[in-house]
Amino acid sequence: MRQRKIKDLDCKLQNLSEFIVSEPEAARGKWNEIFGNNNPIFVEIGCGKGQFINAHSMLYPNRNYVGIEGQDSVILRALEKTAATESRAKQLNCDDSREKGLSGNIMYINKFVGDITEIFASRELCGVYLNFSDPWPKDRHAKRRLMHVDRLRSYFRVLEENSFVEIKTDNEELFEFALMQIKEGGHFIEEITRDLKASEFKAKNITTEYEDKFMLEGKNINYVKIRA
Ligand SMILES: C[S@@+](CC[C@H](N)C(=O)[O-])C[C@H]1O[C@@H](n2cnc3c(N)ncnc32)[C@H](O)[C@@H]1O
Repeated sequence: MRQRKIKDLDCKLQNLSEFIVSEPEAARGKWNEIFGNNNPIFVEIGCGKGQFINAHSMLYPNRNYVGIEGQDSVILRALEKTAATESRAKQLNCDDSREKGLSGNIMYINKFVGDITEIFASRELCGVYLNFSDPWPKDRHAKRRLMHVDRLRSYFRVLEENSFVEIKTDNEELFEFALMQIKEGGHFIEEITRDLKASEFKAKNITTEYEDKFMLEGKNINYVKIRA
């Protein structure tokens, strides 16, 4: 995801630091403490500009969300969306805004995450979303793909029993790769389609920035939901 150079980027991120967990390894095993509740936690790795995770956090106030994004200029846009929601809640003088889903249930990690087990403890999560992940087209970079079998296994190490990983992509080769990795890992496919928009799966209801762009271009969206 390309972004124009943003003036005073560090300063802008600093101003939104209340939504950033700057030392995520230290938060391992303590994420529910950070959110201040025992609600289930869902993660989007590569959340981009945050449309998907912000929409989820508002629609499901009784869930917590962690958006992970390695590019500062990109995560800034996600943080701004969250801050705007928070500010609307304050304008409404809405003291119970957390319960109403107006704020408080979304945090960010502004890093490129490698091993997710360094950040989350066993069974700390209830779902992982991989939306339009970078394809890393060269074979020698296959291990960097977020749906590589080693990574899938690591997600299920930090996921609660019966939790899921959802993958959306426009990229046919990446989708084929994901299906091979799912097979290799022996994971159970619960939902799958080559055309999410035409399907009846709930996953079509909340879109990402990339998803909107690709759908406008008339591209089909590949989607798969797996369990351990
Ligand atoms: C193609 S964009 C998709 C963004 C968003 N999910 C969407 O669908 O609109 C992929 C994003 O994932 C981020 N990313 C890739 N690998 C990552 C990692 N290991 N940790 C954090 N962010 C990552 C990239 O910086 C990029 O912004």
